[in-house]
Amino acid sequence: MAIIDTVKQEFTETFFANLAEVASTDEITAIVLNHLEPDHTGALPELLRRAPHAKVYISCRAPGMLKALLKSDMKNFDYTPVDTNDELDLGGRKLRFLNTPYLHWPDTQCTWLDDAQVLFPGDLFGCHFCDDRLFNDLVGDFRFSFEYYFAHIMRPFKEYVLEALELIEPLAPSLVAPAHGPILRDQPTNYIRRYRQMSEPRLHNEVKSDEKSLLIFYISAYGSTARMAEEIRNGASSVAGIRVSLYDLEGGEVAPFVNLVEEADGLMFGTPTINGDAAKPVWDLLASLCSIKTQGKMGAAFGSYGWTGEAVEMVEARLRGLKIRVPRSGLKIKLIPTEEELAECRAFGQSVAEHLMGTNVNTVIDFSDL
Ligand SMILES: Cc1cc2nc3c(=O)[nH]c(=O)nc-3n(C[C@H](O)[C@H](O)[C@H](O)COP(=O)(O)O)c2cc1C
Ligand SMILES: [Fe+2]
Ligand SMILES: [Fe+2]
Repeated sequence: MAIIDTVKQEFTETFFANLAEVASTDEITAIVLNHLEPDHTGALPELLRRAPHAKVYISCRAPGMLKALLKSDMKNFDYTPVDTNDELDLGGRKLRFLNTPYLHWPDTQCTWLDDAQVLFPGDLFGCHFCDDRLFNDLVGDFRFSFEYYFAHIMRPFKEYVLEALELIEPLAPSLVAPAHGPILRDQPTNYIRRYRQMSEPRLHNEVKSDEKSLLIFYISAYGSTARMAEEIRNGASSVAGIRVSLYDLEGGEVAPFVNLVEEADGLMFGTPTINGDAAKPVWDLLASLCSIKTQGKMGAAFGSYGWTGEAVEMVEARLRGLKIRVPRSGLKIKLIPTEEELAECRAFGQSVAEHLMGTNVNTVIDFSDL
């Protein structure tokens, strides 16, 4: 008999009470851990004590994490790392493993029960929605939670979701049992298809495949940073193959911009320096980008200032923190830009656009690339 995943530590007693209704811990020969996050492994130490002869199966990327999780408890047992297509014979029934890393930790895997066509996908296709009627056709409408979970947990790992779907879709499971959220027994394929839709690029019908998109966001109290932004846009637009968008962050919500940023190639942020800092809407947007993948994009910062002007460097540091390449150091202009300075803005926009297109000859090596 196999147990697949456990529960958050505070639910340990409920877990064992539920387990006692279907089996005794002596019967457990295998403990499969699809994901080591504490909401799935909280009852593991106690399970290991109660089922000392059970063998533990984890993904081949998980051993380091398991050691960090169990620390001193680690001495007491052995584990087997498994990979795609490794099988575990339970005496008549077979479990097969699918290596599906980074959903949403490096250690994640899915487990497939062949004869019943059941997929145990861990967090994938899951949500934070609980109803003791358990099954998707009984619990009512939980779409908001399914989509919210994807948007906040899986979204930064879309590429890995698509890789996992390549393994999962051909199986056409008749039941999908995520580690939390309703068990999907009614038309599980619909949920798998929805994951594909949410993971595939959407905005590319706006930008041609041979074009690059550059988004310029700015905020401005007295209009100086706004003037810079317009001229930077004009300079960038002069480069062939670039689609440039200009957005004023004043007064609006930043959330809708996150979707645009996700599929853009280049990002520029303009902010005045206010009390030694960048303006809040710029931070709000930059703080919202942790739910998407930003690595590999290119970025730059600019802004007007009065005497210290540190906002531009602060934004650049955040861009680097998001693993965004910053090939040109930012453009700062003291107070109101002159005609000459506006020409500098155009040249800056053009240069950033050329870096994006890979046509700028003076490419600077950026440490975040190394
Ligand atoms: C409340 C306030 C605080 C400011 N603090 C700073 C500062 O700490 N350092 C600085 O260089 N400029 C500071 N400034 C000056 C602005 O950065 C400067 O006026 C800039 O040109 C404004 O650009 P904008 O027209 O795009 O709003 C401050 C301005 C205001 C209104
Ligand atoms: Fe998780
Ligand atoms: Fe989870």
